[in-house]
Amino acid sequence: MNKDLLQKYPSVADLARLASKRIPFFAWEYLSSGTGSEHALQRNLDALAAVTLTPRFMRGEFEPDLRTSLFGVDYNLPFGVAPLGLTGLMWPRTEIILAEAAGRHRIPFSLSTVATETPETIGPLANGMGWFQLYPPRKPEIRRDLLKRAADSGFTTVMVTADVPAPSQRERQRRAEVSVPPRRTLKTYWRAAIRPTWSLATLRHGEPRFRMLEKYSSASDMAQASLFVSQNLGGTLDWDYLEAVREEWPGKLMVKGVLNEEEARECVRRGMDGIVVSNHGARQFDGAPASIDALPGIAAAVGKDTTIVFDSGVRGGLDICRALALGADFVLLGRAFMFAVSALGDAGGEHVIELLRADLRSCMAQLGCETIGELRERLA
Ligand code: FNR
Repeated sequence: MNKDLLQKYPSVADLARLASKRIPFFAWEYLSSGTGSEHALQRNLDALAAVTLTPRFMRGEFEPDLRTSLFGVDYNLPFGVAPLGLTGLMWPRTEIILAEAAGRHRIPFSLSTVATETPETIGPLANGMGWFQLYPPRKPEIRRDLLKRAADSGFTTVMVTADVPAPSQRERQRRAEVSVPPRRTLKTYWRAAIRPTWSLATLRHGEPRFRMLEKYSSASDMAQASLFVSQNLGGTLDWDYLEAVREEWPGKLMVKGVLNEEEARECVRRGMDGIVVSNHGARQFDGAPASIDALPGIAAAVGKDTTIVFDSGVRGGLDICRALALGADFVLLGRAFMFAVSALGDAGGEHVIELLRADLRSCMAQLGCETIGELRERLA
């Protein structure tokens, strides 16, 4: 544990502030934006902040135990890294940094289909902690091959992302002229030049690539690769598609992005092992409910035997407690991990895990909770 870093940057907000000064404007806007007018982005944060938990005090001496297990795997902490695409735009080698940190701390690391590294590189680094996120490929042969590569590389759990039926109008990104790859204009060069640490790191590592997908496309540059992604991945899902994935994937399977109770119940009927309650960090639909508002209904609808993972808007230990109290079995964070790596590079993964662990332990001590299971009894 690096105590200096913990003192200097004790919260995710501190890391976000530093990140905004370390990476170019277009990369920052890509990372931090929501969609549309960003009402859902604010809604996620406000709805989490509105959840209160009531402490109990007469517990005597105790040390909060932060461990949990999911799908038969023991994790040291009840949170992990959400899948993030195109991380290399924000900081080179992000997947490597975060997978290694997650592997060391025994928390899940989720690899996105549009990540900048391959499952073959990341699986071994994640040390049995790897989850694999699938943007549904339209061609079944690509889907089968990706799932096989994930299994062969040691990933235990697959999340099929359902909440990207179409591209989203991200107004802030449009205004910041975010594009993949960044346009080669004087403005872009200037924005990169005034962020020399990022520029040097990017020059050293090379521009981001969709390495996982290179096997399936003949794209020779990022512009063509992006076109390949938009033409071949994502789009609307249906139950037949999910059942096909169920047949092809032998491990644990979850659907990510479910906000509707009936759809959650149907996922279970179709053989899914878990649901990721999420609104994609408010990056897809500005009219979506706050993810935390959808959580209790879905937890009640699917019952205790189905695993519920929660994300969208989590920025610290208290938010993790709130989600666990409202019915989640596990929590993922997206931006918090990316803020940390953008701010601190190689040291970011380790630091943000330590920070969240300390914050979570402190909240549980305040609440008088010895185990994460007890959090459900603290809802006000
Ligand atoms: C994402 N998210 C995402 N989800 C997914 O299933 N596949 C992906 O490739 C990505 N890519 C991605 C990039 C960036 C920059 C962000 C911020 C988010 C959504 C992500 O997995 C998660 O649902 C949200 O990030 C959770 O919200 P918070 O923690 O960022 O508020």
